Amino acid sequence: MRGARIEFRGVSRHYGHVVALHETDLTIEPGEFFALLGPSGSGKSTLLGAVTGFTPPSSGQVLINGKNVTDVPPYRRNIGMVFQNYALFPFMTVFQNVAFPLQTRKMPKAEIKQRVERSLAMVRLSDMAGRLPRQLSGGQQQRIALARASVYDPPVLLMDEPLGALDKNLREELQDEIRQFHRDVGATIIYVTHDQAEAAALADRVAILRAGRLEQIGTPRGLYENPRNGFVAGFLGEANRFAVDRITDEPGGVRLATREGLTLAAARGTAGEAIVCVRPERIAIGEAADGHANSFQGTVIDAVFSAGSVRYRVDVAGCTLLVRAGSDRTRNAFDAGAPVHVGWDRDDALVLPA
Ligand SMILES: Nc1ncnc2c1ncn2[C@@H]1O[C@H](COP(=O)(O)OP(=O)(O)OP(=O)(O)O)[C@@H](O)[C@H]1O
Ligand SMILES: [Mg+2]
Repeated sequence: MRGARIEFRGVSRHYGHVVALHETDLTIEPGEFFALLGPSGSGKSTLLGAVTGFTPPSSGQVLINGKNVTDVPPYRRNIGMVFQNYALFPFMTVFQNVAFPLQTRKMPKAEIKQRVERSLAMVRLSDMAGRLPRQLSGGQQQRIALARASVYDPPVLLMDEPLGALDKNLREELQDEIRQFHRDVGATIIYVTHDQAEAAALADRVAILRAGRLEQIGTPRGLYENPRNGFVAGFLGEANRFAVDRITDEPGGVRLATREGLTLAAARGTAGEAIVCVRPERIAIGEAADGHANSFQGTVIDAVFSAGSVRYRVDVAGCTLLVRAGSDRTRNAFDAGAPVHVGWDRDDALVLPA
């Protein structure tokens, strides 16, 4: 099966005076894994609803593989869906649940059996075909929902916070499975989440939504390294952000005065109201901090260990800086209260429109 191309042309959605989605143009490529990321109420589900047909747009068109489906009813769009609480039918076995979409399509019995078995194998639950949903864990139920949504080979799969109800470990485990599943089925996936780490882990491209508008679209890495503005920078990953009071040119770049009273060097400025953003892992600490264009003496407020790295909060002239450093037994071991040197390059001080 091949994934379908999905096009939004001037799609908007209004509820009375509320604009849930401003006019939006967007093309999602065949077989792409596309994530919609944004705060609550930013229009993620509304955008999906335009594809399913359950919340038809107030203006514009939705095209699937070049065909205008804007007026096609939801049940005729051949789209698979997995939602946070997409309940399985409680009195049907796992097999019957997954077979259901095929039975409604009046497929011959032998083919149904073959397809259900293939789908269950794909989510690695072949040995649970005879169970009822309540005899499965939350993660297993969600995998069955995945199998049921994809058993008839839809070219488009929509997922709205499918892992939202699961705990962190299970979520990460299922992320790996969903990625593998996407490679196996080849469908175009639109995946809604407000967990930026999940979007970055899964998607080829991510769209950041804010208040019904697409703020920026890009690869997870592209968005992280080249955010268009402070909102995107703050939404994808951690960032030290400071309001900029004044920018002056100097040899090699610009000099910034932040509202908090720091003076920083950056490669380039921007017109209008600005913020400066420095990623925690771009800041060197200890001996490694010597020789950078930005160089400060500070005091460690606290240090938190997590797998493979240490996250420090460092007080620099009354400002709190987040610093993330690789950890090993000998390097980067600073305790609370320790005086430290921190530093970063001009290129790592991103000056962005506020
Ligand atoms: N039936 C409705 N009537 C009025 N306003 C609505 C309706 N459905 C959604 N909205 C509004 O449209 C906006 C976008 O809603 P949407 O459900 O798309 O957000 P979302 O990004 O999916 O949020 P969440 O992360 O909370 O699910 C919100 O401001 C919401 O209040
Ligand atoms: Mg939603």
